[in-house]
Amino acid sequence: MLDNNKVLSALYEVPDPKSGSNIIDTDRVRNLRVKDNTVYFELIVSNLDTGVRAELNFACQNAVKTIYPDADVHIHMTVDKTEATTLRPIPHIKNIVAVASGKGGVGKSTITANLARAFKSMGLRVGILDADLYGPSMPIMFGMEGQRPEIQKVMGKPKIVPLETDEGIHLMSIGFVVEPDQAVVLRGPRLSGVIKQFVNETLWPELDILVVDLPPGTGDIQLTLVQTVPVTGALLVTTPQQVAIADALKAANMFRLKNINVPMLGVIENMSWFSPAETPDRRYYIFGQGGGQKLAESVETEVLGQVPLVIEIRESGDQVVKIDANWYTEDGYFGVLAKNTLKTLERRNQELRPTQIVQVNN
Ligand SMILES: Nc1ncnc2c1ncn2[C@@H]1O[C@H](COP(=O)(O)OP(=O)(O)OP(=O)(O)O)[C@@H](O)[C@H]1O
Ligand SMILES: [Mg+2]
Repeated sequence: MLDNNKVLSALYEVPDPKSGSNIIDTDRVRNLRVKDNTVYFELIVSNLDTGVRAELNFACQNAVKTIYPDADVHIHMTVDKTEATTLRPIPHIKNIVAVASGKGGVGKSTITANLARAFKSMGLRVGILDADLYGPSMPIMFGMEGQRPEIQKVMGKPKIVPLETDEGIHLMSIGFVVEPDQAVVLRGPRLSGVIKQFVNETLWPELDILVVDLPPGTGDIQLTLVQTVPVTGALLVTTPQQVAIADALKAANMFRLKNINVPMLGVIENMSWFSPAETPDRRYYIFGQGGGQKLAESVETEVLGQVPLVIEIRESGDQVVKIDANWYTEDGYFGVLAKNTLKTLERRNQELRPTQIVQVNN
């Protein structure tokens, strides 16, 4: 007598040709049944090339035969367009958090890098997807310029292996693939092709959080992202300035569009004040005050943290500069930010259903 669960465990060992995860977690296997000496299941292969379909079929047969050499394995390959969209593209990444803003230069990349560091020091498994294809910042911020990711084959298809920072953050950026002065040449369809590649053709390890650094505004990259992965939630970065807020509201409204529907996790106010080294208790509100709070109210969310203007942060944007380790502890600016972000993520995951990938009607 064949055991259903044993067959399932065997199929767990078969890598998903798209994500490198396994075919059970990506939900490719449906209606698994065993009867007498026969194993039957459906295999969803809609988003795979013919060659890969054949290999996957073979891999499944082999997996079952390793535990039941004499079993009859009937695999029904299903090609159904609607099924392709219900496959989970990266099930081994628990949360995907997009860092967005209206205006450029408000500190998205700075927040992304340091939030990721704070998550990492809390013991979480963290990745960063640098989706700013026009001006990738991550290779510089982590001192990894000029490095190239390795390519690994899964079922004959080449996959990108993300690089790892000194802290152990898994990182993928266009900056690792093309020279900095060429990135800007990518447009429209090619932009979305790269985003898709960074998701579907990249071997992300199991992660608690993947932080996505976006370019400013509401362009092709934002749209491609929500069409490619289920974005768990978005963080809005703003300075306290009024113009920054008006633009941030537009960016927030894109995520809140009914057919996009990515929950707002909260607002991060950056460059909130400056305190001179000689008078650390004195705060100068260079860009005004209360802007983050106002933005949060307009989009019915909360301020998750404020980050002051600090010279070390600015320097860390241009080269690798170690920011005071205290900033990442529980009471530090980035530590608090990470803690509050996790709290709102947890609440979001309890109260709301998983985000759906946005469907495009052709
Ligand atoms: N809190 C801060 N204190 C000092 N400098 C900061 C702070 N936050 C950001 N900066 C600096 O401001 C500049 C812009 O920051 P950053 O690149 O993170 O913004 P961005 O929103 O990602 O920009 P873009 O829209 O171009 O991607 C950088 O030089 C960065 O080092
Ligand atoms: Mg940036």
